[in-house]
Amino acid sequence: MFLTFEGIEGCGKSTQIERLAAFLEWRGVKVALTREPGGSPIGKSLRSILLSESYAVAAETELLLYAAERAEHVAKVIRPALARGEWVLCDRYGDATRAYQHWGRGLSRESIETAHAIATGGLEPDATIWLKLGAEEAVSRARLRNGKVKSGEGRFEAEALDFHRRVEAGYVHLAAEFPERIIAVDGSGDADSVFTRIVAVLEARHAIG
Ligand code: TMP
Repeated sequence: MFLTFEGIEGCGKSTQIERLAAFLEWRGVKVALTREPGGSPIGKSLRSILLSESYAVAAETELLLYAAERAEHVAKVIRPALARGEWVLCDRYGDATRAYQHWGRGLSRESIETAHAIATGGLEPDATIWLKLGAEEAVSRARLRNGKVKSGEGRFEAEALDFHRRVEAGYVHLAAEFPERIIAVDGSGDADSVFTRIVAVLEARHAIG
């Protein structure tokens, strides 16, 4: 099972993916919990470049760096874990590139799909949990948390609200485009309620018993 989590900054996906990993492990499932960017050694270095406020990265550079980090991640981490029979839980994957680099930055969808296909060799998730939350609420949560700015990872958080609205609209489009794969989950409310919703949708899909 290859499961990805998606959503805009502050939607709560990192908290929820960790909870799901712990829940699955408790049920005896072997889990590889990973993320993009940053799930491989090269990915960690690329993450610090991609999220640093010190660089004003051109949109095309950004796309290719995300693709490079994904290629490494798929080859060295995701495919080997799937081959070992583990569940791969990945915090962001291709939909983030579609939402951020196409809807957010305005690069063509074609260039995104080409870069993504080179990076993945066609590996797509079995299911994607999209934590749906309005841009105003999500961004204010993210800015309140402010940890990224402190850790030098605030480049996307510093974007205007309008950018985050476009990214959220991108996820709305993607959910309509891939209705079989993308499961929208209401990201509002406390973490316990959101987690209960996630478990319920996975049970409804018979992904977990
Ligand atoms: P996160 O680790 O908090 O999810 O932050 C990663 C940031 O990188 C987030 O702002 C979204 C951005 N991103 C892209 O723009 N394109 C991508 O393909 C990926 C994986 C992430």
